[in-house]
Amino acid sequence: METRIFGTSEEDIEQAAEIIKNGGLVAFPTETVYGLGADALNPEAVGKVYAAKGRPSDNPMIVHISSKDDLTKLTCGITDDMKLLMDAFWPGPLTMVVPARAIVPRVTTGGLDTVAVRMPSDPVAAALIEKSGVPIAAPSANLSGRPSPTSARHVMDDLDGRIDAIIEGDNCKVGIESTVVDMTGEIPSILRPGIITKSQLSKALGKNVEIDPALTQKPEMVKTGGLLETSSDFRPKSPGMKYKHYAPKAEMIIYRGERQKVAAAMAEEKLRRAEQGQKVEIIMYDDNDPEKAARDFFANLRACDKAGADVILATALKEDGVGFSVMNRMFKSAGYNIVDV
Ligand code: TXA
Ligand code: MG
Repeated sequence: METRIFGTSEEDIEQAAEIIKNGGLVAFPTETVYGLGADALNPEAVGKVYAAKGRPSDNPMIVHISSKDDLTKLTCGITDDMKLLMDAFWPGPLTMVVPARAIVPRVTTGGLDTVAVRMPSDPVAAALIEKSGVPIAAPSANLSGRPSPTSARHVMDDLDGRIDAIIEGDNCKVGIESTVVDMTGEIPSILRPGIITKSQLSKALGKNVEIDPALTQKPEMVKTGGLLETSSDFRPKSPGMKYKHYAPKAEMIIYRGERQKVAAAMAEEKLRRAEQGQKVEIIMYDDNDPEKAARDFFANLRACDKAGADVILATALKEDGVGFSVMNRMFKSAGYNIVDV
């Protein structure tokens, strides 16, 4: 299949919306990462998303809407807590898991009776959803297991020829995927950390928010049928968190500890590897600017692969606020390969 390339003019977005209406797949920019969109209410179209990405079908999709009112079409019980979070963070990089109405196909929810919903702030994403006239199911627009795409180039590198079209917009400003919060229990629970942090959520709600305990565990990795997976006693509530994700082609090692010791250990390892003829790439971030680390992280992994790196040595960020969210991705990229110095 030939992948059509659209710009961000109104006519282009209209044509892309036609493709969504007709059950096709369109990749599009959002403020977090690029998404691969299909009509969320059309099971056949959603099935094509799993196929194009090579994604396990028990991993549910996020459904994107363009107005807060659209939430009532997808769920019946809108609680006061949901309203508070919508008011504080929508449109924006927050996804809420809520009870699903029967209209939402089970292929979209990965067989669950809950649905993840988000209203993106990116104007191109909002226009595409609005012109399509349907909610859009969209996972990140990468091949399953690869780093999430933060530019149109990344999407084309993975999916050219596998999808109907792409809208080429700007690079993504946030750079890591939305915060996913489960709203179905008594206490809201963060299933995937993002740029919107636990303390921001607690503040908006005026009460405590939990973090899914699976997020702070280091799981055992096992190989099943060619796919690297976390072992079966690791049970995160968000099905997508159990696969090895975001992996660069290179081996990756995270160095954690006091700044100067980390730098010395990395320099030593770099030298050792280089002597063996390996190509070594270094990723270093500033603890004082975790937002920049979030914006750059996936692009940095892809750049290391393009440079033909055999091994990536990366410094750990302090694990609080946005740093915690970046480290959630970094641990998975490295398959939990950590050196404490
Ligand atoms: O920023 C984002 O959220 C991007 C852009 C495109 O909007 N989308 C994205 O989608 O990251 P995806 O499919 O790569 O990740 C969706 C995550 C997965 O971890 C999935 O398991 C979880 O959300 N999820 C979706 N529906 C769920 C549900 N009903 N219950 C629990 N977790 C759910
Ligand atoms: Mg993804």
